[in-house]
Amino acid sequence: TDNYAVFGNPIAQSKSPVIHRQFCDQTGEDMSYTKQLVAEGEFKQAADEFFRAGGRGLNITAPFKLDAYAYANALTPRAKRAKAVNLLIKEADGSVTGDNSDGIGMVNDMLNLGWDIQDKHVLLLGAGGAVRGVLQPLLNQNPAQVTIANRTVEKAEELAQDFHDLGSIDGCGFEALAGKKYDLIINGTSAGLHGSLPTLPDQLCRSGAACYDMTYAAEPTLFMQWAEQQGADKLSDGLGMLVGQAAESFYAWRHIRPEVVPVITDLRRKMK
Ligand code: ATR
Repeated sequence: TDNYAVFGNPIAQSKSPVIHRQFCDQTGEDMSYTKQLVAEGEFKQAADEFFRAGGRGLNITAPFKLDAYAYANALTPRAKRAKAVNLLIKEADGSVTGDNSDGIGMVNDMLNLGWDIQDKHVLLLGAGGAVRGVLQPLLNQNPAQVTIANRTVEKAEELAQDFHDLGSIDGCGFEALAGKKYDLIINGTSAGLHGSLPTLPDQLCRSGAACYDMTYAAEPTLFMQWAEQQGADKLSDGLGMLVGQAAESFYAWRHIRPEVVPVITDLRRKMK
């Protein structure tokens, strides 16, 4: 049996083992997938040990995505762009490739929801690791324009600069959004985790607008509540992004594409 795991700290809350169990049940793949608490500062040691014992691949969650980026012997283009790795793959030659499946997981979730990205005006809130991680897959969908808005304006501007070769993209602060309209608004700030929201101007939603929160919860998130008040037409939290990054990881390891929708439905039911 091939062994896989997710490393993080904390890790008890991780749904990844349950998700991969369901992918195995669907596809008949025989593998084990466990969660492992790793002490801060001990990522390299833990990963070395895992792969030395024959481990085939890892998922990486907070706070180790930068450690995993540094650990990989080679990086996929999207991981290079993300400057973060949530997926490690042991290759036949013994080397370890670092990949990032968070962004494609989010984009695939939006497409599954029936949301269009192509030719749309997209607003991304936040300019940290979460937003950097999704920019390349998002720009690959050919939106008309992507605006990154962040509390610290310079971070938004720098991020836009880093990706300007991939599409039409700019960075600004929240106040500068006044009077603008967007088709798709994505919350990539961590504000919700501290029980707050960025202070945003009203009327950012164009008619038919969709709002997506990269975080998820049993109840509608603060950002989704804001979006509802603002008259957004479509809303989602990031549960499907979580399952989507897992599906992409499973595909990278097993070369079989699992179905995400039944897994999302099941997790949602269990969260209630
Ligand atoms: P992550 O890996 O989750 O992206 P991060 O790199 O620390 O975490 O980035 C957190 C993001 O949430 C940043 O864009 C941060 O804004 P700043 O760059 O100005 O710090 C944003 N953020 C966190 N708390 C916020 C709040 N209360 N209001 C607005 N933005 C917030």
